[in-house]
Amino acid sequence: MAGGPRIDIITLFPELLEPFLKGSVLGAALREGRVDVRVTDLRAYAPDRHRTVDDTPHGGGDGMVLKCEPTVAAIEAVRGPDGRVFALSPRGRVLDQALARELVSERQIVLVCGRYAGLDERILEETGAEELSIGDYVLSGGEAAALVVTEVVTRLVPGVLGNPTSPQRDSFSGGLLEHPLYTRPRVFRGREVPEVLLSGNHAEIERLRRKQSLRLTFERRPDLLERAELCEEDRRFLRELKHERD
Ligand code: ADE
Repeated sequence: MAGGPRIDIITLFPELLEPFLKGSVLGAALREGRVDVRVTDLRAYAPDRHRTVDDTPHGGGDGMVLKCEPTVAAIEAVRGPDGRVFALSPRGRVLDQALARELVSERQIVLVCGRYAGLDERILEETGAEELSIGDYVLSGGEAAALVVTEVVTRLVPGVLGNPTSPQRDSFSGGLLEHPLYTRPRVFRGREVPEVLLSGNHAEIERLRRKQSLRLTFERRPDLLERAELCEEDRRFLRELKHERD
């Protein structure tokens, strides 16, 4: 049984998405039936014999706009009763780990990839599609964004990652950046793995990693500390870091 939402991606370029979906963690999860991701070719819903899916914008402007008829038909064909529809767009709510956790408990998410200039506004009105952005920059189409959303959401489905504790440990899950990682060899060009990591003392290892996470977040993304889950010992260490800095 697949866990997490069924994910439908509507695109003019199914062939762009398929190799990525087949690879790595996501591909294995698909083959094992742990997740259900389907790609729909928007052109199959074009009503005319020329398979037209886009047109020039009324009022002028660059690029092409996805037309209402094929796009709404494709959305209506794949959307189930509880499907939540998103159009990938830089105008949308910006994806973060909190939104990913919200999406993983949906029954179905439908991701509509715009190309060129974007979509006819009435597609959003007619289907109630929300807009979803992956960051404050502009892509040439929604495909790369849809893959990001798919990967971010599906890796939260229980059983998709080998180790069930890894999503909790990831950067952002407790609201902090991840601590540094090390593997063999113990010394590389004179650079040593921190001794504690080799000690087998799990409590000490956790303490070191927590401090490293706090330090990195303090230095690089202090904005995250406002929403992070912090204990008294964390707060004490952060006060020390502030003291060191000032
Ligand atoms: N399409 C173009 N730019 C995008 C972005 N930043 N996020 C999602 N979809 C997009």
